[in-house]
Amino acid sequence: MSHVTEPRGWASQPLLERESEILAIHRAVDDLCGITDTGPAARRGGVLTFAGSAGIGKTTLLAEARRHAAERNCTVLFARGGEQEKQVPFHVMRQLIQPAFAAMTEAERHEVLGTWYNIVAPALGLTAAPEVPTAPDPQGVRDGLD
Ligand SMILES: Nc1ncnc2c1ncn2[C@@H]1O[C@H](COP(=O)(O)OP(=O)(O)O)[C@@H](O)[C@H]1O
Ligand SMILES: [Mg+2]
Repeated sequence: MSHVTEPRGWASQPLLERESEILAIHRAVDDLCGITDTGPAARRGGVLTFAGSAGIGKTTLLAEARRHAAERNCTVLFARGGEQEKQVPFHVMRQLIQPAFAAMTEAERHEVLGTWYNIVAPALGLTAAPEVPTAPDPQGVRDGLD
């Protein structure tokens, strides 16, 4: 399983001058959970992006998004792309969903993946690599993940 290093200190130190970004995060997560000031509402999905130069605080804001979502009892999937792992097939997808699958029993994995099990499970590293290594068919894995 991939481990991602969390930025240290973000939770214990106040985030300076990020009120509007934090408000945007909290609103987006609350929309996703169907929580409004006036009570329950329809759930609304969306995409929130943060861009900026290195060290400006993007990772810290993402950590806050995860913290807030976890506080709302959301299932939080997290992955991080890196220059070094560009060539590793399905690296980000593995990070994203492997922890959820790893927490399941083998029977549950079979149930979730159904007939795609034999294609998707090895690509996600959920089963031992085949004795004769073969590259997964990328389209097959994509279809299975869909
Ligand atoms: N709003 C903020 N107030 C105080 N410290 C911050 C804030 N945002 C980030 N930091 C600190 O600045 C450093 C860099 O932040 P980070 O989120 O890793 O930046 P980025 O991901 O954009 O490169 C970290 O040590 C983080 O704790
Ligand atoms: Mg960062």
